[in-house]
Amino acid sequence: MGNQKSKGQKTKQAMPPKRKNAQASNMKASVPEEEAYNRLIIVGSSRVNGRSASLAQQLFDTCLEEYPDDAVTIASVASLDIDPCIGCSACENGDCVIDDDMASVLDLIAAADEIIVVSPVYFAGPPAQFKALLDRLQPFFFTDARHQETRPLTLHIIGEGHDPFGYDPLVTCVSSAFYCAGFVLDQILDWVGKIDASGEIIDDPDIFVLSEGDADEDEQDGLEEFIDEDFDGLHDVDEELKEF
Ligand SMILES: Cc1cc2nc3c(=O)[nH]c(=O)nc-3n(C[C@H](O)[C@H](O)[C@H](O)COP(=O)(O)O)c2cc1C
Repeated sequence: MGNQKSKGQKTKQAMPPKRKNAQASNMKASVPEEEAYNRLIIVGSSRVNGRSASLAQQLFDTCLEEYPDDAVTIASVASLDIDPCIGCSACENGDCVIDDDMASVLDLIAAADEIIVVSPVYFAGPPAQFKALLDRLQPFFFTDARHQETRPLTLHIIGEGHDPFGYDPLVTCVSSAFYCAGFVLDQILDWVGKIDASGEIIDDPDIFVLSEGDADEDEQDGLEEFIDEDFDGLHDVDEELKEF
């Protein structure tokens, strides 16, 4: 889980423009109470039953067990209809022109106190379907969500391993898009090579804690520095390419 806040300590939210027909299918949710702390698990895999889905289910079950009074929802890219952003900038003045499940996802994100992303790494970055979701966070840019009180974001990274290029672009894309929506990445859990094909956890993740709770601009600078220096150090491509 990410940073735990006490219940009732709701943060101010920047709502994206609401649209009609904002009803997505295949989202799993506990029964939310009006004032409950609200966690949203977003699964970036395009596979319904892959490693990410398995870990996300375990996180969902853990939330239900450890925080029975809180609300938790899973939104999985594999079960949602999300088209790519077409860059038309209609959201600058209100509604996104694309009529798909993203309207519901934007509502869930706006209502979340905390977001937990579980995503595979595809050639160092996010899978295309998940990148479509990230790009569709653009309406938040125009509601200035990033200038309001920030909320915590945790990223679980899934992969088979053996790729020398690491996952810095995935971290950067997730961090950038969700920062625009008012969420600051404060924890990364690296599960690469640590979950087998059946979804069973075979080793503990490497955990990187980036900031404590709400981050100001300095902390965001710190994240960029961390990505620039530490991650480049972790994934020294030149060195690893020799063995690739
Ligand atoms: C196009 C593609 C690119 C991939 N690139 C990487 C990679 O760079 N690093 C890695 O560790 N695994 C990579 N993988 C493996 C996936 O991350 C792995 O199969 C993961 O389990 C997929 O997530 P899922 O099981 O939740 O669907 C790649 C898989 C595909 C299909």
